[in-house]
Parts: sequence; C-alpha cells; structure tokens
Amino acid sequence: MKKEYFETNKALWNQKTPAHLTSKMYDMEAFLAGKNSIDSIVMDKMEDVKGKSILHLQCHFGQDSLSLARLGAKVTGVDFSGEAIKTAHQLNEQLGLDATFVECNVYDTEQHVEGKFDIVFASYGFLPWLPDFTEWARIAHSYLKTNGRMYLTEFHPTMNMFDWENPKAAYNYFHSETPFEEIVQGTYADKDADISSKEYFWNYSIHEVMQPLLKLGMQLIDFEEYDYSPYDLFNDTKGEKEGKYRMPIEVQFPYVWSMVWRK
Ligand SMILES: C[S@@+](CC[C@H](N)C(=O)[O-])C[C@H]1O[C@@H](n2cnc3c(N)ncnc32)[C@H](O)[C@@H]1O
Repeated sequence: MKKEYFETNKALWNQKTPAHLTSKMYDMEAFLAGKNSIDSIVMDKMEDVKGKSILHLQCHFGQDSLSLARLGAKVTGVDFSGEAIKTAHQLNEQLGLDATFVECNVYDTEQHVEGKFDIVFASYGFLPWLPDFTEWARIAHSYLKTNGRMYLTEFHPTMNMFDWENPKAAYNYFHSETPFEEIVQGTYADKDADISSKEYFWNYSIHEVMQPLLKLGMQLIDFEEYDYSPYDLFNDTKGEKEGKYRMPIEVQFPYVWSMVWRK
C-alpha cells in the first residue's frame, strides 16, 4: 500500500477537522448539549451498548465514539488524523467520559491497540480511504471476541459511481487497485471551507465488502439498503423535515447500506 496515498489523505483530513467542528452538519452545540450524533440507520441496528467494549475504526474527531461512551460503552477510537485525535481527546476530557483515542493508520492498529472487543464499529466514509478492504477486514475481525458483532454502515457504491456536478456515470462500480484521484475544494460538511487538496479514494461493490468477511468465517446476520441518505451530501437532495434526503427524481438510488456481522 503506497505511503503517498495515506500521507495525502491524512493531510486533507487534518484540514477538514477544524472545518467540521464549526459546520452545521456536525452541530457541535447540540452534541455538547447531549445529542447523540449517531443517525437512526446505525442506532436502529446497534445492540444495547451499555457495558460493552467497542473498537471504533476511523472515528474522526470522536463524536460517534463519545456518543457511544455516553450510552455506557467502553470505547476505543482509532484514526490517523492528528487533528481529529487531538480534538477527540479534548472532547473526552471536556465531557468527563472515559473513551480512549489512538492516533495511527488503521492498518497499523495491531501495533497500538491490545485486547478483544464485543463490538467493532465503522460508519459513513470509512471505506473510500481503504486501499485494501481484505486486510482491513482481517484486522477488524482479529479484534472481535467470539460472538462479537461488527456493525458497518456506508454510502452505497452506486452513489459513488456518479459525477454529481454534471450528472453522469463517471466511476467504476468495482474496486480497482489504482485509486481515483481528485483535487477537493471545501469539504462535504462545509462546501465553502478554505480547503483545496488532493485526495485518493477507492470504491467497493457490495460483494467486495462481503466476500473478505465471509472468507474469515463471519456470519452476516443483517443487511439492508436504504433509499435515502441521512445526510444532505448529494446534489439537490430534499428531505430536511424527515432527515431523509433523496434526489427529486423518479428513479431512486440506493444511498446507504448497513451490515451486521457475528464472529
Ligand atoms: C468520514 S470520517 C468517518 C467517521 C464518521 N462517519 C464521521 O463522519 O465522523 C473518515 C475518517 O477516516 C480517517 N481515515 C482515513 N484513512 C485512514 C487510515 N488509513 N487510517 C486511519 N484513519 C483513516 C480520516 O482521518 C477520517 O477521520
């Protein structure tokens, strides 16, 4: 896995983090006042986490990790962005919670995190930054206790196929070792943020996520696709009232998938 991909993406996530802290999407005021930052697609699938140990991979600045900690879980969050982990530590302290945050490349987690967990969790936007999902799955699986569960939720690969600026199919549905490469302006949570940087990303079809986990002997116990996004990220989507964003067209897309696996 090329170091350049990780270094480039890490630099971008370090720039995105401060912009996210002031964005409407991450709504820090509500979060600090006690709002659970995790959307209902994830929460509806999640078991009662009270007393459970959770490894949260690619935890960003820890909003979701700390939301789980507020529900009584013992959470360890991993992310390679120094800015994100610094903020996660600050929030953990400010809120008087006992989550642990580790700054490292997710592929190096085994050098930094010990033990086994009841739950491994990753959501929205964890997958595009992974050059090798098979290796990610091996690592994630290795941290689960027997009967432990893995909760994964992600934007649907079909959505990633489109160039939404001038709508047309522009990207392959299937994974390729060669990443897509783009210069990003702003960030998904604040399109006007003063950010201009390169990013590398990959798409994964549904079976390309399932196969490595099946080959590890994991059992898929729940799988769902959703005809809306809980976030207003795609062009012209409407649905603020319900919190379910869809494009105002007759043909509907799958926006999100969710999987629950048991070891
Ligand atoms: C969109 S966030 C996902 C978290 C969550 N859905 C959120 O929005 O708060 C993606 C996170 O993945 C992290 N990331 C990307 N590539 C990584 C890698 N190779 N190792 C560790 N973290 C990585 C980024 O730093 C970023 O914080």
